[in-house]
Amino acid sequence: MLSNKRPDNMERITTQALADAFIEEQVKEVRAQVGDKKVLLALSGGVDSSVVAALLIKAIGKQLVCVHVNHGLMRKGESEQVIEVFRNQLDANLIYIDATDRFLDKLAGVAEPEKKRKIIGGEFIEVFNEEARKLENIEFLAQGTIYPDILESDGVKAHHNVGGLPEDMHFELVEPVRLLYKDEVRVVGKALGLPASMVDRQPFPGPGLGVRCLGAITRDRLHALREADAILREEFDNCGLATKVWQYFIAVPDMKSVGVKDNKRYEGWPAIIRAVNTTDAMTATIEEIPYTVLHKITDRITHEVEGINRVLFDLTPKPIGTIEWE
Ligand code: XMP
Repeated sequence: MLSNKRPDNMERITTQALADAFIEEQVKEVRAQVGDKKVLLALSGGVDSSVVAALLIKAIGKQLVCVHVNHGLMRKGESEQVIEVFRNQLDANLIYIDATDRFLDKLAGVAEPEKKRKIIGGEFIEVFNEEARKLENIEFLAQGTIYPDILESDGVKAHHNVGGLPEDMHFELVEPVRLLYKDEVRVVGKALGLPASMVDRQPFPGPGLGVRCLGAITRDRLHALREADAILREEFDNCGLATKVWQYFIAVPDMKSVGVKDNKRYEGWPAIIRAVNTTDAMTATIEEIPYTVLHKITDRITHEVEGINRVLFDLTPKPIGTIEWE
């Protein structure tokens, strides 16, 4: 049984040299644990699962089977980046499933946030299980469990994820970054050669854009949200805010207001900018965004995104506003 307790004398991984030493040690440990068997990994493209994937590719190459489920609620370019980095650059054994229609069909007409979350979580497990069943000789399941998951939830994340698998599928867990803190996972990811845009990614909720396309999700509003969010990210990258702000995104409510475009009445949705700083997500403050940047973003979103006719900036700290709108 591998230990789930971080040794008191374990040095914080802050440098490439320390990361390299960690990687070397984990490569040996994973090879010893797995032998010549196959390992399955749900690769979301988030920091933790991406770093685990890169580490396991180094350790066991094609014995790792990565499954990337695109639930249709990813940000612009995210699934494409997973395919580019893992299939094209790292030559991973990657199964890509575009399950957009399944998710969006199930979510159609559902406005209640917790119900939306349940549908997204449940459908994810279903799609992943269907794929797992098609594969043969898999004995291990890799997970991006990190040390705060173990500390905060007493290993609940691990049980959660495995708990979603059918009872007749028995996997032994492979969790190579389970003793690391998030900042260490990022250092290890960089040492493994993953792009900064993947390793330094801001937190992104599991239900993805599903909880930012407020109320009942429609494809046209989801598309507008994704495009507006991409513009926000691009402009934050351009002016250096991307590395200063902890989490920033767009939410699009299910309401329209009147506007004018090309001398005609133009009804559209508002795009709401949220940009917050926090250390633990329990409380959050509002980043002061220069007006020039806000004007530029407003100009681009209202001109480039079909269906959006206003841009609003959410000034509400947490508490009282949660970071997400639903
Ligand atoms: P709130 O909205 O509660 O968000 O202030 C705090 C942090 O949690 C993220 N968040 C989620 N993450 N599944 C997730 O994986 C969820 O359902 C979920 N809801 C909120 C949110 O993005 C923020 O970082």
